Amino acid sequence: MELKELVGLKAAEYIKDGMTVGLGTGSTAYYFVKEIGRRVNEEGLAITGVTTSIQTKELAESLGIPLKSVDEVTHIDITVDGADEISEDFQGIKGGGGALLFEKIVADNSKEVIWIVDESKMVKHLGAFPLPVEVVRYGSIQLFNKFNEKGYNPEFRKTATGENYLTDEKNNIIDLHLGEILDPRALAEDLIHLTGVVEHGLFLDCVDTVLVGTKDGVKVIEA
Ligand code: A5P
Repeated sequence: MELKELVGLKAAEYIKDGMTVGLGTGSTAYYFVKEIGRRVNEEGLAITGVTTSIQTKELAESLGIPLKSVDEVTHIDITVDGADEISEDFQGIKGGGGALLFEKIVADNSKEVIWIVDESKMVKHLGAFPLPVEVVRYGSIQLFNKFNEKGYNPEFRKTATGENYLTDEKNNIIDLHLGEILDPRALAEDLIHLTGVVEHGLFLDCVDTVLVGTKDGVKVIEA
């Protein structure tokens, strides 16, 4: 079994009847959502899902998982999501799949956040993975130039056909090729105060539990 599937299945064990569950986005969260769908259909698991992207919404709907929007629920018990990188002190980069904005909103409104990753995502310092920054389209080239001046090595995310990538909120993404992020808090502060930045992919002090898929099985780490 693929490591991503292993952790997806393990994370589903945390989900109990009556919970409101944040459903993450990406190729690892996919296995979690699939397993929740199986349990809903085969075991009668009674949960309400809150999705983090149109992609996950379509998947969850196709599996018959009951859904509500983030604004229709009073709370979210647990959110299970993937991550692109997790540092030794459990800070994360997310948004490789472009869903960082909704993912952060759902995570911020969750009592508990679980990240599911394979061991290749566990790093000493963040930054080898390009940091996604969601920006409004208006003025995005000016913002790109500012990132350049700051030495952030920006690159507009493109689609396969060469257009600027559009998020679910119809914003663009600029990926920052930083190499190593030694002070993620300072960087997050800087980014979020630049006009036109909607959100960035630094998820700081966000996760409670990390499930890491290794060749020896799933490692459960409390952050
Ligand atoms: C989606 O925008 C991301 O934040 C994903 O959660 C992250 O990129 C992990 O995706 P994979 O599980 O596909 O690697």
